[in-house]
Amino acid sequence: MKTIGKINRIIKERELLKSRNLTIGFVPTMGYLHNGHISLVRKAKSISDRVIVSIFINPIQFGKNEDLSKYPRSLESDKKKLDEEKVDILFYPSQNEMYKDRITKVSAIKHRPILCEKTRPDHFDGVLTVVAKLFNIISPDFAFFGEKDFQQLFLVTKMTKDLNFNLKIIPCPIVREKDKLAMSSRNVYLSSKERSEAPIIYNTLLYAKKLFVEGVEPKKIEEIAKKLIEENSSGKVDYIKIYDGKTLDEVSENSRDYRIFAAVWFGKTRLIDNIRVIK
Ligand code: PAF
Repeated sequence: MKTIGKINRIIKERELLKSRNLTIGFVPTMGYLHNGHISLVRKAKSISDRVIVSIFINPIQFGKNEDLSKYPRSLESDKKKLDEEKVDILFYPSQNEMYKDRITKVSAIKHRPILCEKTRPDHFDGVLTVVAKLFNIISPDFAFFGEKDFQQLFLVTKMTKDLNFNLKIIPCPIVREKDKLAMSSRNVYLSSKERSEAPIIYNTLLYAKKLFVEGVEPKKIEEIAKKLIEENSSGKVDYIKIYDGKTLDEVSENSRDYRIFAAVWFGKTRLIDNIRVIK
């Protein structure tokens, strides 16, 4: 695997691949790779001729109260994992390389302040800005995003269409630990008590899904789920919400495809998860 930190060098590599008519699959990450990331890499390998992974801890998607300096890092073991998966190129740029003299950002103008946007204002502007840059730098044919960060996947898919990026976004299913906790780089922050309690998120989503299928009102389900989590664990619910899974609009009679979303604080760690419901 080649590791490249400079934008002009990776553009040369990409042009070489394109001149040979090879398709590029791209997996953007912030490192500290777990099996969720590896599932994206494997999917990328299965449908692309060459795979490029980026590791860049993107400072502009962290809020003022979110500790960027404490975000977990593990470059050497990440490289080893990517090597084992036979990734072709790791793009590992510095902050300076990505953002020196930047005066531009990409922003979703009509996105309602719901779900994570409400708790993390500006977060998605940071995500969209870096993803747009990475798409321009790598020029992939396919880009792979996990469904755990569903709002991110939704906004990146919209941006790709709105800004006419010539690539296909491939959504990939959530990967879970044995006890069904969704895999996340942030799970490492949990104390052993919090870690043992955290699967309550998915179990509650399963219960909420059952209620929703039975016809219980979304507002009522959101209340029941919050109570369940807060009365049976140390978790504090940031949100439990049900939205149309295609548009992220409020639940309406016209839709059949929904998602139930949860964000729960365990101590200082905020975990997110979601589940699809077809009605
Ligand atoms: O999901 C992530 O790890 C990040 O938000 C992403 C897409 C790599 C952008 O920094």
